[in-house]
Amino acid sequence: MPNTILIIDDEAAIREALSGILADEGFTPLVAASAEEGLQLLDEKDVNLILLDIWMPGMDGLEALKLIKQRFDLPVIVISGHGTIETAVQATRSGAYDFIEKPLSYDKIILSINKGIQLSRLERENRLLRESGPTKIYITGNSPPITRLREQIERVAPTDAWVLIRGGHGTGKELVAQTIHRHSLRSKHPMIAVNCAAIPEELIESELFGHVKGSFTGATENKKGKFDQANGSTLFLDEIGDMSLKSQAKVLRILQEQKFERVGGVRTIEVDVRVLAATNKNIEEEIDRGNFRADLFYRLNVVPIMVPDLVDRREDIPPLIEDFLNQFGKKGIGRKQFADEALQLLQRHSWPGNVRELRNLIERLVIMSPGDRIGVNDVALFLGNAPLLPLPVHPGAGGYHLLSSFKAARRQFEMDYLTAKLLENDGNVTKTAELIGMERSHLHKKVKALGITVK
Ligand SMILES: Nc1ncnc2c1ncn2[C@@H]1O[C@H](COP(=O)(O)OP(=O)(O)OP(=O)(O)O)[C@@H](O)[C@H]1O
Ligand SMILES: [Mg+2]
Repeated sequence: MPNTILIIDDEAAIREALSGILADEGFTPLVAASAEEGLQLLDEKDVNLILLDIWMPGMDGLEALKLIKQRFDLPVIVISGHGTIETAVQATRSGAYDFIEKPLSYDKIILSINKGIQLSRLERENRLLRESGPTKIYITGNSPPITRLREQIERVAPTDAWVLIRGGHGTGKELVAQTIHRHSLRSKHPMIAVNCAAIPEELIESELFGHVKGSFTGATENKKGKFDQANGSTLFLDEIGDMSLKSQAKVLRILQEQKFERVGGVRTIEVDVRVLAATNKNIEEEIDRGNFRADLFYRLNVVPIMVPDLVDRREDIPPLIEDFLNQFGKKGIGRKQFADEALQLLQRHSWPGNVRELRNLIERLVIMSPGDRIGVNDVALFLGNAPLLPLPVHPGAGGYHLLSSFKAARRQFEMDYLTAKLLENDGNVTKTAELIGMERSHLHKKVKALGITVK
């Protein structure tokens, strides 16, 4: 897309000459004969850089410069025929990127414009990169569901398909979105993320599509939306199930036409955006309730990606922990090791908060546990009375030697044995007690003490 350069100068001859040269160089020139007119144009048009004269009737260039810098994040080159050192210094202090004296050397101007545009793009990308969260983008785990997930990501990433990422809280939906973006053809630009649930419903549209000054109370300036920011890149719509029906209609239109209008605006803006959406809601239910558009769901769901719950891939827990320990070590939180029994106990928790819960718990354990080695008791303390599941990979008779004390081994055996027997009898305690020759009340107590749950 060509860059638009706004020329603010009261001399018609300069405006014309500059416009001609800029057009020859492949820019889109835009002209204003006064600072007031320039500011008005900035509110209406998308501008990439400004050439600003200092001496003008009405508002002068320095005053305009201050206003521009307050309201817009744009590079400004000041041009002046009455260039004194003081004005140059003042202009630079007020945020001008360069100062060029008249009579203008056109080569110098073009060079300065190219530099200014490049610099502002870099600044913008750096800022977005800083805001875009975790730097580590690697999906840890070797369980069958995670291997399948990784294969799906590899297949869909290089296409331009929109993707709906589904899964429970903290399963890694955002990480999946980041991974898809990183492996896509758009990866040289940062991914833009919007959490639809965190923005009040009445502001979502303005956040996504931008707004025009005065279009609602509080809209004191023109604002670009996330779709503008993500032009040429990927937009991640997190918690899409929380989006209003009106916004859904607009998103659907972008999906079909890649076009939209800002809130209160009349101009149609065209963008090239790939959307990755995520939700932990049951969208089919939301459709039945009339809260989610079926047509949007079907278009988004062309390539559905389901991120598995941690409970269904508990064998990934040890590598995940190792990964977190490395991350915390690098952050200076401390390097610690987990005893095997502690790792085993962690694999028997059901993790309703998934990987996020695991990560938070490991961080707490590393910070709170005394010593370098985190033992089974430290973990037990944090897990409290939560019911335990059988180990994901059955240790078998040979596995008990991993447990250091007789007590831990017996507990493990009791868990495995009773869980298996209860499963055989559909969780019926009375029947199981009878079959294994144990008092019903005794078995009941055991089941409770060990926290066995059989559905
Ligand atoms: N497979 C994985 N490997 C490494 N880290 C992971 C993995 N999955 C998730 N994480 C980490 O767990 C945390 C939660 O992940 P993320 O924010 O992507 O989850 P989410 O599904 O978007 O959660 P929520 O539903 O709360 O928005 C992050 O710190 C992320 O880096
Ligand atoms: Mg998330």
